[in-house]
Amino acid sequence: MHRIAVLTSGGDAPGMNAAIRAVVRTGLDRGFEVFGVRHGYSGLIADEMSSMTARDVGGIIQAGGTFLGSARCPEFKTVEGRRQALANLDRRGIEALVVIGGNGSQTGSYALSQMGYPVVGVASTIDNDLYGSEITIGVDTALDIALEAIDRLKVTAASHRRAFLVEVMGRDCGYLALVSGIAGGAEAIVIPEVRTDPEAVADELIDAYRRGKSNGLVVVAEGSEYNAAGLAKYFAQNQERLGFDLRVTALGHVQRGGAPGAFDRLLASRLGGGATAVLERGEHGVLMGLIKGEIVATPLAEVVSMKKALDTRLLELAAMLAK
Ligand code: ADP
Ligand code: F6P
Repeated sequence: MHRIAVLTSGGDAPGMNAAIRAVVRTGLDRGFEVFGVRHGYSGLIADEMSSMTARDVGGIIQAGGTFLGSARCPEFKTVEGRRQALANLDRRGIEALVVIGGNGSQTGSYALSQMGYPVVGVASTIDNDLYGSEITIGVDTALDIALEAIDRLKVTAASHRRAFLVEVMGRDCGYLALVSGIAGGAEAIVIPEVRTDPEAVADELIDAYRRGKSNGLVVVAEGSEYNAAGLAKYFAQNQERLGFDLRVTALGHVQRGGAPGAFDRLLASRLGGGATAVLERGEHGVLMGLIKGEIVATPLAEVVSMKKALDTRLLELAAMLAK
């Protein structure tokens, strides 16, 4: 195997650039020619790819986003779309593909590998919802960004004795909310994995003020049954009973756009290097992830069929810490 390609797909995540750099440089070191594909699976279908040198990936390890570009590509979900992608790879003599991305992207990897093409995935999404890696590229940096915002919101909340609903990303997964809620000292955390009654959240806040707190912080995962807007509606209807002022801040894409911290740069470098090591051994159809501190290859078939569990017992710890 001599030619491989690398792409980034789905939601960008801080550290994707470090992963591209690792795939290119370790790939070259292992004797591959490495192609960079623009704009995820869209570039594969549109044949937007070029051979890369070690210098092409210079000066990007510290940058957020992905310099190759990323995309959501509905066409890749069709057999015709994937056939077109395979035809382009074939014509260029590219014999394997590294896909840096999250849940959806690795479902795409699996679909391609099911068509007989060698693919290796690299676990990258801020949502941390991907089976096969305890933590994925981008999570740590996204958490730091959420915490910086939460810390600031607590300052202004305390000045006005206000409560804040802070909505964080995560799609259907509550990991970002759970961890930023604990580390940010939230009075309540609302996640999709656990049914939460708005009245119970209101009671938590009322009780926090009774205990002498100067503010109340609720971290809400965007994918919860009641997201921040839904909770705010309930709170507005019960304003008199609550007896405190409330504001809502949705952090949104701010969480995704940061420069990667040390953890994500190292994780991305290790996972990217792991991907080319696996290809050098002639293996594929796996996702590179971090398990118990080690870089581990998990079959893509297992990755797409399993759901990553969230340790909801952490909610009990959060409740005790909020006292
Ligand atoms: P993420 O990888 O961040 O979870 P998405 O869920 O948007 O992001 O998936 C990224 C891309 O992966 C999609 O736009 C599509 O091109 C591809 N993809 C997702 N699901 C499938 C599927 N079932 N089959 C083939 N490709 C898929
Ligand atoms: O998957 C990463 C993520 O940031 C999710 O947390 C969020 O729900 C989604 O992408 C937002 O997607 P888009 O960038 O297409 O608005």
